[in-house]
Amino acid sequence: MSKNFLLVTLALAFTGIASAADADVKLTIRADTPGPTIAPEIYGQFMEHLGRNVYEGIWVGEGSSIPNTRGFRNDTLAALKKLGVPVLRWPGGCFADEYHWRDGIGDRSKRPHRVNTYWGGVIEPNEFGTHEFFELAEMLNAKTYLAVNVGSGTVQEMSDWIEYITSPSESTLAKERRANGRDQPWKLDYVGVGNEPWGCGGDMNAQYYSDEYKKYALNIKTPRDNRPVEVASGPYGDGYEWTEVLMKNAVKQMGAYSLHYYTLPSGSFQKPKKGPALSFTEADWIVTFKETLKIDEMITKHSAIMDKHDPQKKVGLYVDEWGSWYDVEPGTNPGFLFQQNTLRDAVLAGLNLNVFHAHAERVKMTNIAQMINVLQAMILTDKEKMLLTPTYHVFEMYRPFQGATFLPAEIDAPPYTLGDVSIPSVSVSAARTKDGKIVVALVNTHPNAGATVRTAIPGAKAGKVSARVLTTPAMNAHNTFEKPDAVKPAAFTGAKRSGDAWTFSLPSKSVVVAILE
Ligand code: AHR
Repeated sequence: MSKNFLLVTLALAFTGIASAADADVKLTIRADTPGPTIAPEIYGQFMEHLGRNVYEGIWVGEGSSIPNTRGFRNDTLAALKKLGVPVLRWPGGCFADEYHWRDGIGDRSKRPHRVNTYWGGVIEPNEFGTHEFFELAEMLNAKTYLAVNVGSGTVQEMSDWIEYITSPSESTLAKERRANGRDQPWKLDYVGVGNEPWGCGGDMNAQYYSDEYKKYALNIKTPRDNRPVEVASGPYGDGYEWTEVLMKNAVKQMGAYSLHYYTLPSGSFQKPKKGPALSFTEADWIVTFKETLKIDEMITKHSAIMDKHDPQKKVGLYVDEWGSWYDVEPGTNPGFLFQQNTLRDAVLAGLNLNVFHAHAERVKMTNIAQMINVLQAMILTDKEKMLLTPTYHVFEMYRPFQGATFLPAEIDAPPYTLGDVSIPSVSVSAARTKDGKIVVALVNTHPNAGATVRTAIPGAKAGKVSARVLTTPAMNAHNTFEKPDAVKPAAFTGAKRSGDAWTFSLPSKSVVVAILE
């Protein structure tokens, strides 16, 4: 074999140009049997005091040379507004269980400096606190989701915080809020009682936490017109035993129940390496998706346990931490969890969102981890520079799903197989948007083969399509501060109508979102 031939072959394999035959896929979208509403909150974000998420990512302070509005940087704010963030979870994560809200109110120059013991041991200046969080949420028109400190806090500390936020009265705490510059109470939409209480949030067992949960939930006291949903902390991944105990002991006191699951190419936090964000092989690519798709079975099994105790599905399942978790970028602080974001993350986001839609009866919120500069972020910054990640683009493309009505879809697609690993080659989700159009998301996981998706839509007549595609020649294509638009959506021209049927010709490794009307 000549050296040139070998080089060309390797290059084609890496870019995906060496294509396999297109998959032949049959799809039926049941517009005639609509399902539940897809809660907009499925598109929620998570913002922890971790690395450069809050500081630099969103808060730069009024004196910063980075253009800002009252301390919030203008560029990331504008990008988040375009995304339509429905809900923001804050201040952690593990940080929530060492956060004391009084540190973050009043004159910023006098706020105490603490050590962020979970994330890099850096100084937490408390410049971003309660007022800043609620102001940010108001600017983004996002609902507010607090994780309160159970691990190192008290019921009284939580009750005081909630009174400070929500009381319209003349109580001392309400007056203190006014003295600190906010006259009207803020809207508090969700209160999460602790975070990962089985781990960093207190190392508790399920029975103990469920008793603690009830005590805290009882003391979430707010005016009637400002009642937050009370969220009990659930397990990680397949921790079904935790769900059994929590449901048995505390279902009556719950508005919602959470679940965390991260996708690691290595499959386990116990392994020394999770896998790099950028230099990965096709074997890593397929295994990452196999790992991520496990969330479908987890949601199904947790939901089945919830169904036994809550057959009317009053308690929402909130996947309030999810996303990819790789080794940090070389040379960065290991405690900051800063990772790059490639086309692999875009495909992963599409797969997860499709799964969440399919469980819309039970899954009422999810929060990808995390919003800026941490794990599977929407946005990366480097001081005054900013870029949007491939994951951001998927969230933006999927916006029409927020609040849409889920439409069941039957798909017959061949598997994509590499060695002994097989996953579906094409994943789909469809819905009827609030303005009556049909939105279809198609994810082609195969890195070297396109897919021809022949689609029937009983119950809908559509004559027009507008669609966008996110795809790149390389599996690991990503945006950099030098080339921030290397991965961005483009117009999709592969949709063709024939009578009432549509054919979508998907490129390999792509996410397509089409609006039919
Ligand atoms: O998102 C990073 C961390 O992962 C969170 O702080 C914690 O809740 C989870 O273990």
